[in-house]
Amino acid sequence: MNHTFVILAAGLGTRMRSKRAKVLHRAGGLALVEQVVAAARTLAPYGRIVVVTGHQAELVEELLQPLGVGFVRQDGQKGTGHALASCRDAVPHDGLLTVLYGDTPLLTAATLERLRDAQTDSGAAATLITTTLDEPTGYGRILLNGEGDVTAIVEEKACTPEQRKINVINSGIYCFESELLWKHIAEIVPNPVSGELYLTDMAEILAHHGHHVRPMHVDDATELLGINTRVELAHADRILRGRRNEELMLSGVTIERPETVTIDPRVEVGTDTIIESFARLLGATHVGEDCRIGAGAVLTNAILGDNVHIAPYTVIGDSRVDSGAHLGPFARLREGAHVGPNARVGNFVELKKTHLGSGSKSQHLAYLGDAEIGEATNIGAGTIICNYDGVKKHRTTIGARTFVGSNSTLVAPVELGEGSYIAAGSVITDEVPSDALALGRARQVIKPDWAKKRRKKD
Ligand code: UD1
Ligand code: CA
Repeated sequence: MNHTFVILAAGLGTRMRSKRAKVLHRAGGLALVEQVVAAARTLAPYGRIVVVTGHQAELVEELLQPLGVGFVRQDGQKGTGHALASCRDAVPHDGLLTVLYGDTPLLTAATLERLRDAQTDSGAAATLITTTLDEPTGYGRILLNGEGDVTAIVEEKACTPEQRKINVINSGIYCFESELLWKHIAEIVPNPVSGELYLTDMAEILAHHGHHVRPMHVDDATELLGINTRVELAHADRILRGRRNEELMLSGVTIERPETVTIDPRVEVGTDTIIESFARLLGATHVGEDCRIGAGAVLTNAILGDNVHIAPYTVIGDSRVDSGAHLGPFARLREGAHVGPNARVGNFVELKKTHLGSGSKSQHLAYLGDAEIGEATNIGAGTIICNYDGVKKHRTTIGARTFVGSNSTLVAPVELGEGSYIAAGSVITDEVPSDALALGRARQVIKPDWAKKRRKKD
């Protein structure tokens, strides 16, 4: 049987007070509409998902294109009923059609599955998800008859004072028999107050034709939260982050003060890894087993092996750290940096497009850019690679078991041979042969009693 999902995402979302369309705002590491597509995707792997776009359609379509969904452009935002009606030629007219709103990111696939089964079992014209709210303001209210069938949905603005007291609300998630939906959708007339076509009117229209519309009550209202303001956006983000953290904890990851920790949906973390408070693991980050991610660390697209220790406030972007390495506190890796196994990168050390070999160390205050550094090498405190001549970037090669003395300046392109030794404070501009000592600084001069004599003059 056909089962099509239509996600309405054409609205501006005035209450967000934003230049960006509401459905593009992010919660739980994904845009609101991406979260909804993800929930539908688990049920419709071979079925169809159609997203109705309008406001900032190009941006929404560009974001969702990789997810393999179809698009229908809504011509003007004339209401949720008009949005769905725009899909008439884009979807099958038999089987089931589930409608979702692009601003309900907390919805789970399990609930959608229940909705499909409820609709299939009841044989009604439509089933819609309802819930009970202590504070129902802003939501459409559900009117039921004696048999528990939905007879109408009344929008907040159209409610009588009596209806306003109803706290069973419309979630905006419906599963229709496609045939009946398309037969009657043209009967929706513009709302007298707003002039919009309300999809919610379909309940009354179907009931009027003698069809059953069933409510499916969901006890936990959290899932159905529709995001209209940034306050609700933050609330949804907190819930989605909490869900992800719980999944990881149940899979064997320790998270300290989880309410402070941010982990994106695609991030993977191995068992017995400990994540300290305020850490952020973002993008396609992959952390191995038995690692420790320190407080305030920010890892974006970072690949970590096992037993890696990231001390607090370390920032890693698009880089790799092999097993047993130790970084930070306050280290920074970016643009394809690669720290080898058991290597050490200490405080205020920055690596860019640099490979630090196995067991090598750079413990304090250094900039290592565009360099290949061999194994068991020691980079002294304050070493700076001058990789940029003002026009071009140049590469530096440092051999294995090299000792670079503190405060050395390596002017690229330059090569330090294996086992060489650079005297502290040197400026190195020429190749250093293997096992040689290079000194690139003025020799120290001693003037005995100079200071004493000067003091006497005063
Ligand atoms: C809607 C429901 C309300 C329900 C609530 C649940 C209607 C008339 N009301 O109200 O009963 O309780 O959701 O959250 O449906 N959209 C379009 N095109 C349009 C208008 C809206 O695609 O012309 C999309 C929006 O992008 C949004 C969704 O539809 O994703 C819902 O629109 P919104 O304006 O937020 O509806 P609510 O007022 O919240
Ligand atoms: Ca809404």
